[in-house]
Amino acid sequence: MSSASDQGRPDSVELAEPDHSPQAEQRFQAFPLPHNASASSLEADTEGDDEVACSIDSAIDSWRSARTQSVTSSAAAFQYENGRRYHSYREGSYHLPNDENEQDRLDMQHHLYRIALDDRLFLAPLAKEKVRSVLDVGCGTGLWCIDVADEIPNAQILGSDLSPIQPGMVPPNCKFIVDDCNSDWLFDEKFDLIHTRAMTPGMKDWPRYVRQAFDHLKPGGYIELHEIYIPICYAKDANDTIPKFVQWSHELIGAGSKVGLDFMAAKKVGEMLQDAGFVDINVRWQNWPVGPWAKGEKNKIIGRWWAEDLQDAVRNTAALFTRVLGWKPEEVEVYAATIANEIKSGNRHMWTEMCFAYARKPGVSE
Ligand SMILES: C[S@@+](CC[C@H](N)C(=O)[O-])C[C@H]1O[C@@H](n2cnc3c(N)ncnc32)[C@H](O)[C@@H]1O
Repeated sequence: MSSASDQGRPDSVELAEPDHSPQAEQRFQAFPLPHNASASSLEADTEGDDEVACSIDSAIDSWRSARTQSVTSSAAAFQYENGRRYHSYREGSYHLPNDENEQDRLDMQHHLYRIALDDRLFLAPLAKEKVRSVLDVGCGTGLWCIDVADEIPNAQILGSDLSPIQPGMVPPNCKFIVDDCNSDWLFDEKFDLIHTRAMTPGMKDWPRYVRQAFDHLKPGGYIELHEIYIPICYAKDANDTIPKFVQWSHELIGAGSKVGLDFMAAKKVGEMLQDAGFVDINVRWQNWPVGPWAKGEKNKIIGRWWAEDLQDAVRNTAALFTRVLGWKPEEVEVYAATIANEIKSGNRHMWTEMCFAYARKPGVSE
């Protein structure tokens, strides 16, 4: 497959040991999971697999219909703009909404990450029985924290976020705070693991974040980062036209750079970790197809759900276009609809490069 971004493309990922416990299987009922398939090498599927496609489509239909029935119950003081709800603490600093549509996207994305990592929540080689404290920075709806709390009941899990959008009913070893990770952190605790995922749209200074995480880790503790790299990759077509979605991703990089966001930061993670003093640095990459065009059952599942996720993500980054680039809301709407149609048509083979990195703070844990 020829591609505009073949250069520097990552090697395939070795996925970690799958978890076939009954709890893990139950959690993924809505996401049939071929644990042994690889999502990292993408080869176009020219034959199609109707059975897989049908079961994914009906799961997606159920998800879409459930989310349209839910009603906003939160009366918290949030900010509203162009029909979307945004955080109020440090108002305007993060450009994605925190309303139910975005929360549903984050919840779905959490499951997608679990599928991609064969149900693992983190890759750092930590002995679970020794883990006592975990921090998730920018925890969103808190599903990762809740799952870690269930999986490591002896550990205390803390999730921090600008938005108080986490559920009230959580495991007793899990708590959430409102905090701005771009400032000095509000707490002094030291952790065994500090995790971030999908924080590229919110992180203003990655090197500072990595240094702050270093200071908040115990000796021997791990930092772990799961991040997307933008721009979107694509296979060239006969006319050599650039897909609209890829064009959008370049606009996004431009808008981000105007407000201190680096959507290309994932490829600098290894260097940042080294500069901060981390050792045993491990950076892995996966290619996630946009749509079910790539061969292999796991690629199809990831691709189908990722395509849904990204259509919403395009809509939900509207504020970067209106606030920063000065577009009219209706212009963003039309652009998002055009991209959604392009993604749904499946005419273009596109994918995203996903970074999974972890590293250890020197020293020995007690
Ligand atoms: C794309 S979401 C990812 C959420 C979560 N990590 C996940 O994977 O589901 C980014 C999250 O970062 C939060 N966020 C953005 N900027 C932040 C900041 N400066 N400090 C703390 N949280 C922030 C947002 O409120 C949002 O919940």
